[in-house]
Order: sequence, then C-alpha cells, then structure tokens
Amino acid sequence: MLTMLRFLLLLLLAFTSGAAAQFTDSCTSEVYTSIKQCYVQYMAGYNISMIDTIPEYWDFHYTRRVLLDDDGLHIQPYVCQLGNTLSNCLAPYSCMGPNAYLQMNAANATEATDYWIDLAVTQYQCGAGYNLTMTEFYCIAFCRERYQPDVDQCDAQAVIDIQNGMDPCAAQQKDFNCQSAIYSNCCDWNAGVYICNVDVAGSKAVNPACVNAGLLTCPAPR
Ligand SMILES: *[C@@H]1O[C@H](CO)[C@@H](O)[C@H](O)[C@H]1NC(C)=O
Ligand SMILES: *[C@@H]1O[C@H](CO)[C@@H](O)[C@H](O)[C@H]1NC(C)=O
Ligand SMILES: *[C@@H]1O[C@H](CO)[C@@H](O)[C@H](O)[C@H]1NC(C)=O
Repeated sequence: MLTMLRFLLLLLLAFTSGAAAQFTDSCTSEVYTSIKQCYVQYMAGYNISMIDTIPEYWDFHYTRRVLLDDDGLHIQPYVCQLGNTLSNCLAPYSCMGPNAYLQMNAANATEATDYWIDLAVTQYQCGAGYNLTMTEFYCIAFCRERYQPDVDQCDAQAVIDIQNGMDPCAAQQKDFNCQSAIYSNCCDWNAGVYICNVDVAGSKAVNPACVNAGLLTCPAPR
C-alpha cells in the first residue's frame, strides 16, 4: 500500500508546492536533537542501533514487517506500544515535519516523506484505528498478500487521473474508495474502512488541504 501511495503523495506534493518535495517545516537545533532521541529510543525497540543517522526507510519497514509476519497478532500491541511511545515523545514538537528526517541524515526527500507518512499511519493504526488493527489483522495480511497489485492499480489510476486534470482531492477519494472496495470484498466491511483511514492519514501528512476541506472521507466501521 505504502509503496504506490507514496508516489501518489509525492506527486501531490510536487503539484501543491510548485517544486518537487520542498519542505517548509523547521525547528531549532535543540528540538531536532530531542526528536532524534525519540527515534533512537524507537529504533532500539526494534533492536536497531541508531546514533545520528536514521536507517533507510525500507530497511526499517522490512524489519517491522518480518517481526509482524513471524510473530503475528500478539506482537502488534508491542509494535503499537513503540509507536505510541514515539508519538508521545514527539508530541511537544509541533514544528516537526519531514525536514526532521533530513536532520537525521535521511538520504533524500523521498526517505523523509516515507518516514513522515509512516508516523501518521502509525498514529492512526495504534490510536483511533487500534481496534480495527487488531480485529482485522490476519484478514488484512491475507488481502495484502493476494491483492496488492490491484491496490497498486488504484493508486496508479489516481496518478493518471490527476495528470489528466482531475481534481486531486477527487482523484484521491476515488483511489481510496477503490482500495476500500478491494479490502471489503476480500475481507469484510471494516477492513475497507481501515484501509481508507490509513490512506487518509497518509494524505493528511503530505498535503492536509483535501482532508481539512472535508473532501476525503471514510465510512464508519460497523
Ligand atoms: C531484541 O533482541 C532481544 C535479545 O536478542 C530479543 O529477545 C528480542 O526479541 C528482540 N526484539 C525484537 C523486537 O526483535
Ligand atoms: C533516496 O534514498 C534511498 C536510500 O538511500 C534510495 O534507495 C533512493 O533511490 C533515493 N531516491 C531518490 C529519488 O533519490
Ligand atoms: C476499542 O474497543 C474497546 C473494547 O471493545 C472499547 O472500549 C474502546 O472504546 C474501543 N476503542 C476505540 C478507539 O474505538
């Protein structure tokens, strides 16, 4: 999901800022040091040793994926405990945005954006969406395994739609509905609700305009 979604979101970022991935967030160097310490602690929870440089995003993602695949549902509360500890640690720093990852030597804007989206998605999965994360865990893993190419196709279509001049908010809503339908058919209604909310969280992190205007919505769980 994140694989293609990030291309869509980077495209949107390029559209809205007029240049490719220019981040405007900025904190003091003291705050950046504190933010880095939050990530040092977070990575330690995954047995990843970090000093000044945040790991490559997909290396970190893979470590977490393997842990979840190997240990299943009963490791999810631990993953969320780490995620919520990170969120709480970062909570005082409202100046924070994707630039923070460049301060931790992330290689480029894509890496920084991936971490920033990941944080927003974690905040949904381990916060408002926690019950769905737990109840839909295996079903979602099954659907991801089986239907990832179809989900990627929804994102790819949104990129085409935007390039063809469709309103970016409308194109995203269409994309999220498309993914939601795949998950609700594969699994159940709430799996569709879950995936839609994950998408909205990612979208809000990169470009809050559509979400704040109420143009991206998800149905309620049943
Ligand atoms: C971290 O390493 C310790 C010691 O080897 C191990 O018990 C623990 O399960 C590891 N934790 C993770 C999240 O991999
Ligand atoms: C960004 O950095 C990552 C990690 O080093 C690398 O794999 C990727 O190809 C880079 N992406 C771009 C667009 O330069
Ligand atoms: C999760 O489920 C518990 C127990 O059913 C409930 O008390 C709680 O309000 C739910 N949390 C959310 C965020 O929906």
